[in-house]
Amino acid sequence: MSATASPAFTQDPAPARRGRVASRLGAVRAHSLALAAPLSVEDQCVQSMPDASPTKWHLAHTSWFFEAVVLQPHAPGYRAFDARFFHLFNSYYESLGPRHPRPRRGLLTRPGLDEVLAYREHVDLALKNFVANASDDAWQAAQPLIELGWNHEQQHQELMLTDILHAFSCNPLLPACQPVETPALRLACAPPELQWIERPGGQEHVGHGAAEFSFDNETPRHAVLLQPYCIADRLVSCGDFALFIADGGYQRPSLWLSDGWAAVQAGGWTHPVYWLAPGDPRAPAEHWQVFGMAGVRPLDAAQPVSQLSFYEAAAYAQWCGARLPTEFEWEAAFDAPGVREMIGHVWQWTRSSYDPYPGFRPLAGAVSEYNGKFMVGQLVLRGGSLATPAGHVRPSYRNFFPPAARWQFSGLRLARDLAS
Ligand SMILES: [Fe+2]
Repeated sequence: MSATASPAFTQDPAPARRGRVASRLGAVRAHSLALAAPLSVEDQCVQSMPDASPTKWHLAHTSWFFEAVVLQPHAPGYRAFDARFFHLFNSYYESLGPRHPRPRRGLLTRPGLDEVLAYREHVDLALKNFVANASDDAWQAAQPLIELGWNHEQQHQELMLTDILHAFSCNPLLPACQPVETPALRLACAPPELQWIERPGGQEHVGHGAAEFSFDNETPRHAVLLQPYCIADRLVSCGDFALFIADGGYQRPSLWLSDGWAAVQAGGWTHPVYWLAPGDPRAPAEHWQVFGMAGVRPLDAAQPVSQLSFYEAAAYAQWCGARLPTEFEWEAAFDAPGVREMIGHVWQWTRSSYDPYPGFRPLAGAVSEYNGKFMVGQLVLRGGSLATPAGHVRPSYRNFFPPAARWQFSGLRLARDLAS
């Protein structure tokens, strides 16, 4: 997060600035409810695995964040909706006290959904009053935290979708999550031929250097030295990946990292987790199908392959005689002529460990735990997905997941050394 509020807000006259913050905050909060609206009460309470959380928990936790980070410290006289919620809906902030265990969030049938929605209204009203009436000193201290809070909520909006999609993937009925518009199917349309874009290497500057909001893990902006490389002009498609499966990709240990091959063996992986092989009894068909937000649909060869683990992405690249780009190669190529599908399709696994940038300094206070303490054992993904809220990502944005994670909208783009 920026150390200070974004200039988009600070350059306004004070009353107008507060109005813009209130408007943006209200829009983000309303979008969470809109995402949950198609789901039943039962849908919103279920937890399909320890890594995923119930929709109801996301709705409550994002309210808890504003309560714990903005209202309690900065709004004099703020009264908590229910003090017990501090225990229930704290996610991982050690400095803010003990919390309900993550794997047991699905057991929280109480508070009910109605009470969680009332909790949201309570927090919304308090935030609205704070934005309108806070003293200048309180406003200066809290405005960056409010901006962090709505960016945090946008991250959870994507998780609301990926987590309910995983829950539905565990249901033999394979229901659709949302009545979403689906693009026309292009079954007969093979993916376009992949083009390699040559990049010269040399010194590049990466990271967030603008004054607008960013998370702390994107900073400081710094120089890196890249060797000459090539990056694919497009994402790897379902049609591409089907050829890997047909060539025995999931049966050839030589293609896999050791930990990846162990995951293949332990999990019985034979294809991307949301693909249905021909004849799958849950939705019998003679052809491959893919489960997604709109339910089960015939595999579209031109669509980016998604819900891949890092291990599957790396094995596919190995099969191609290529590799994954580093996060810096990806960022340096963001605006390169000919490169497309960089933002908003699937998160793209990189070959970069999620590490602090040189000179990284976490935010002060409780939010110091937001990013920095997770910088071990995870890989960076870039680019955002179809589930990422509009306007939330940017070229310097760093997402991160463990290498075996398979429930995000995660795919890949190939790279290779220029000389190879
Ligand atoms: Fe969170």
